[in-house]
Amino acid sequence: MAKLQEMTRKKSNYKNNIAKIAVISLLALQFGFINQSANAKPTIQTQLKDWPKINSPIKSDAATEAKIKSIISTMTLRQKIGQMTQAEIRYITPKEVQEYYIGSVLNGGGAWPAMNKHASLDDWVALSDAFYDASMKTDMKNPIPIIWGIDAVHGNNNVYGATIFPHNIGLGAAHDAKLVGEIGAATARAVRATGIQWAFAPTLAVVQNQRWGRSYESFSNDPYQVREYGYEYIKGLQGDLKQDGTVLGSAKHYMGDGGTKDGINEGQNYSSRLEMINKHGQGFYGALSAGVQNIMATYNSWDNSALGDTAGKIHGNHELLTEALKQKMGFEGFVVSDWNGIAQVKGCANDHCPQSINAGVDMVMVPEDWKAFIDNTTKDVEEGRIPMSRIDDAVTRILRVKMQMGLWDIKPSQSKYAGKIDTAADQELARRAVRKSVVLLKNNNSVLPLAPNKKVLVIGNSADNISNQTGGWSVTWQGNENTNEDFPNATSLLKAIKAQIGEGNVTYSIDGKGVNPKDYSAIIAIVGETPYAETKGDLRFPAPLSYSSRFGDEIANIERLKGQGTPVISVLYSGRTLYTNDLINASDAFVAAFLPGTEAQGISDLLFKGKDGKIKYDFSGKLSFPWPSDACPPATNEPYGNYKPLFNANYGLNYSQKTNIGKLKLDKRETCQK
Ligand code: BGC
Ligand code: BGC
Repeated sequence: MAKLQEMTRKKSNYKNNIAKIAVISLLALQFGFINQSANAKPTIQTQLKDWPKINSPIKSDAATEAKIKSIISTMTLRQKIGQMTQAEIRYITPKEVQEYYIGSVLNGGGAWPAMNKHASLDDWVALSDAFYDASMKTDMKNPIPIIWGIDAVHGNNNVYGATIFPHNIGLGAAHDAKLVGEIGAATARAVRATGIQWAFAPTLAVVQNQRWGRSYESFSNDPYQVREYGYEYIKGLQGDLKQDGTVLGSAKHYMGDGGTKDGINEGQNYSSRLEMINKHGQGFYGALSAGVQNIMATYNSWDNSALGDTAGKIHGNHELLTEALKQKMGFEGFVVSDWNGIAQVKGCANDHCPQSINAGVDMVMVPEDWKAFIDNTTKDVEEGRIPMSRIDDAVTRILRVKMQMGLWDIKPSQSKYAGKIDTAADQELARRAVRKSVVLLKNNNSVLPLAPNKKVLVIGNSADNISNQTGGWSVTWQGNENTNEDFPNATSLLKAIKAQIGEGNVTYSIDGKGVNPKDYSAIIAIVGETPYAETKGDLRFPAPLSYSSRFGDEIANIERLKGQGTPVISVLYSGRTLYTNDLINASDAFVAAFLPGTEAQGISDLLFKGKDGKIKYDFSGKLSFPWPSDACPPATNEPYGNYKPLFNANYGLNYSQKTNIGKLKLDKRETCQK
């Protein structure tokens, strides 16, 4: 049926798209983006007609299955539903975990033990032990250890003092899948340091429209790059799942979150079924090939109404959650719903959604309303709205993963990583990642690299602002409620520059007012977006997709200083590619640094020559998304059809390229409404 509709659809777009994917994959092969050396690597397939069978390296075995069966045979319905329930630490106590047989807890962005933003590693481990001990003290015949999940999406970013790595958009620009694997492994250890066993990462969105407030959580708009990164990230995070120092990953958000119309968060994805399979599915094929044992359902809809298919919210989509994922791809792990995600399914509420469980959700993230959820779901089973076989399957999947992880073997504090983070090693890795992820887009007359011993003026809203440097999902959910004191181990770019060339050579003025540019050999303007997460980050159509429409003062400050003989070097922190022609015109050199995290020394490493006057580090980052050439790039699912970006994906200069960019056309539109 779907196929028939597919064939009758006008599909010029679709054909183009597949052709593009085929070309990308060929290029990928040629340039070795896809490292073919290890056997377990996913192979390149183009033009898949259906969901592919994925061979997971983590397989269940008969002995484990028999054990699970025997445990389940002793469980009451309420115990089973408790296992399927994930509550938030602000709304549940260890005592309630014991009483209600809760299978999992999470802490949302900006939730910490006792709501202490500066909680220590020991505080985290103690709370994790308390939940664990409670789960093992129930009156069940076979108590089942609880699992705690956290949004460790660029390092263990909720935790005071943890190293924060570049957000995914920057890692995409590094074009280095092995590096992403190392970051996954370091993140896993930092999560174990808090006594937590599950990271809600990576996001495998293949973002089509940078208006989306979660664009920075996406590695690339190249599905094959997302697939390769998904593979390496999960290898790093999960390893074989058993080893101490690894955690359960969560490939999210399944699927199509990066393809919503106009880039609206939690919006509608109008892709055809074959586009879903060949584009938005790719990251998941990578993660599944690496053995990911948890998948998070996505908030968006897949409303393919053009094809007469009104699937609605994916939290209620049986085709995707069960037929595609579990049956065709062969996924044996469990599906978790997103934060109150079930409520968005037609006819559902925060505390009630048999549709979602019947569609294939195994564990329900019900942060607050978990008690009512348990009651309602128990009734659903008793009254026949959810078959017991579905409940048993969900619990089987959850227990399977818990057994594969050996959760019965040690409690959180018994991990050898508990309470300890090797900060020096993490910082070194993050600094290297920053160095590889920043992209040089303009370097007229080779003004960069700068001499290591001359006076510079540093200006800009982000020069000494770790919040702008780290973005959303940093200590708090939105990332905008922090000061530099909330990041005790971080290095701002201002601090890094001072360390690099000596404090005496650096003058800092946030707005550059009253300073004479002629007193300096260079002006370094470090400007950025302010932090955001999820819907709050959406730049809704018809707002222009430009930096200066929101941060015009930053450009004005630069324009006042330019053209007086001192070169201007601009560094932009942003969670997305943005129209910045005015900023680029005002700058002799322009660096897109995305959201680099806590270790800005990775940028100063590149900006300056070594003490011996020789180039120490060169730029190697290349965009993983196109860079817009006007303020209103096409706002559709296929934004870059005939549109000519200013810089294509994969663009990025290094110091041996002598490319001068002339004055760029300015687009002053204040709205994209025609
Ligand atoms: C986000 C997820 C996140 C979850 C838990 C949701 O709003 O979409 O990515 O894992 O919250 O904090
Ligand atoms: C919570 C965050 C959570 C987010 C998910 C917010 O209300 O405070 O912790 O991650 O919702 O959407």
